[in-house]
Amino acid sequence: MPADRVSGHVLPPDAPPGDPVKVLVTGSAGLIGSEAVEFFDGLGFQVHGIDNNLRASFFGPSGDTTWNRQRLEATCTGYVHHDIDIRDRAAVDDLLRTLAVDLVIHAAAQPSHDLAATRPFDDFDVNAGGTLNLLEATRRHAPAAVFITVSTNKVYGDNPNRVPLVELETRYDYAAPEQAEGIDESMSIEGCLHSLFGASKVAADVITQEYGRYFGMHTAVFRGGCLTGPHHSGVELHGFLSYLVHTALREGDYTIFGYKGKQVRDQIHSADVIAAFWAFAQAPKPDGAVYNLGGGKANAASLLECVELIADASGGKRPRLTYDETARVGDHICYYTDMARFRSDYPGWRQAHDLPTIVDQMVGAVRDQL
Ligand SMILES: NC(=O)c1ccc[n+]([C@@H]2O[C@H](COP(=O)([O-])OP(=O)(O)OC[C@H]3O[C@@H](n4cnc5c(N)ncnc54)[C@H](O)[C@@H]3O)[C@@H](O)[C@H]2O)c1
Repeated sequence: MPADRVSGHVLPPDAPPGDPVKVLVTGSAGLIGSEAVEFFDGLGFQVHGIDNNLRASFFGPSGDTTWNRQRLEATCTGYVHHDIDIRDRAAVDDLLRTLAVDLVIHAAAQPSHDLAATRPFDDFDVNAGGTLNLLEATRRHAPAAVFITVSTNKVYGDNPNRVPLVELETRYDYAAPEQAEGIDESMSIEGCLHSLFGASKVAADVITQEYGRYFGMHTAVFRGGCLTGPHHSGVELHGFLSYLVHTALREGDYTIFGYKGKQVRDQIHSADVIAAFWAFAQAPKPDGAVYNLGGGKANAASLLECVELIADASGGKRPRLTYDETARVGDHICYYTDMARFRSDYPGWRQAHDLPTIVDQMVGAVRDQL
């Protein structure tokens, strides 16, 4: 089945009846996966999702994504859920054989930098082994499909901490003109501290590239900054902004680990993430494409600045901040994404959500849950 089956020029509305474009989304009850399900369901595609709610095992009850799965099943009429573990090679192969998919969005993962050290086998088996299972099953049964792996800026390890920084009143920022727009894909993934999570994601990232280069499949790797949005089951160890909003609205305790709260992250809304995937899927680049993906300089803010943005959006709600001098191992001091490569390849893509809008939406979503 050719990759142009997913092209908006071909389908829909010209799809033969009974032969809709088929999309497989892994991690479909998570933040990125669920946004992908809704988007492709909205295009009239047949969307299948894999999620076994391993997030609840990783992070406990507040990481449970059952609510999101149920929301999708209630609102996305064509959505089919598969309670499969991506580590289960036979089950993954079986599903891909049956489905003959046109597009795979691979967003299932153990996503936490810090958790990986306590669950090293789960981390590597899910992130690296699971990705290989999906790639190989796709190669065997749907080699013309577009395959997108959601990677992370943690593949750069702590190399971003080695670029010159300047300390400002409420944040760090890049000091050199080379990083004026942020970190691009020329940043090395070598010679740095990755964390076990960063290492397992490097494996997934590189193996995805290899299925593009070696086997000629239509693969892409997107190295995310902070991906966020109202459907995040945010917990202390993953989903920084979501967790900060939850804590602020409850006026609970929030511990800042190191860098005086001036550490900077860029936030991109999950809908803008999926729009980027969709742009790629309609016109995939060959040879193992790699893109950085994030909110960029305009959507970058320090932790301290995020607290104030949340206070503005919530009528003054703030967390009770405490400070621990010890930074998280390998944590970035300042990271925002230079997306020049993606913007050049896909000039039609626009980032629709600015940071205040993202925070507003998240405050609204968390209020509904209180
Ligand atoms: N959210 C971020 O800030 C961020 C930043 C950079 C990269 N990423 C990457 O984006 C991807 C999606 O992240 P997210 O924020 O949506 O995470 P998430 O935890 O919200 O979603 C991941 C989903 O995958 C499921 N899952 C985990 N292991 C599984 C397994 N073995 N089998 C089946 N399902 C499994 C989980 O239950 C969860 O619902 C991940 O690869 C993550 O590393 C996320």
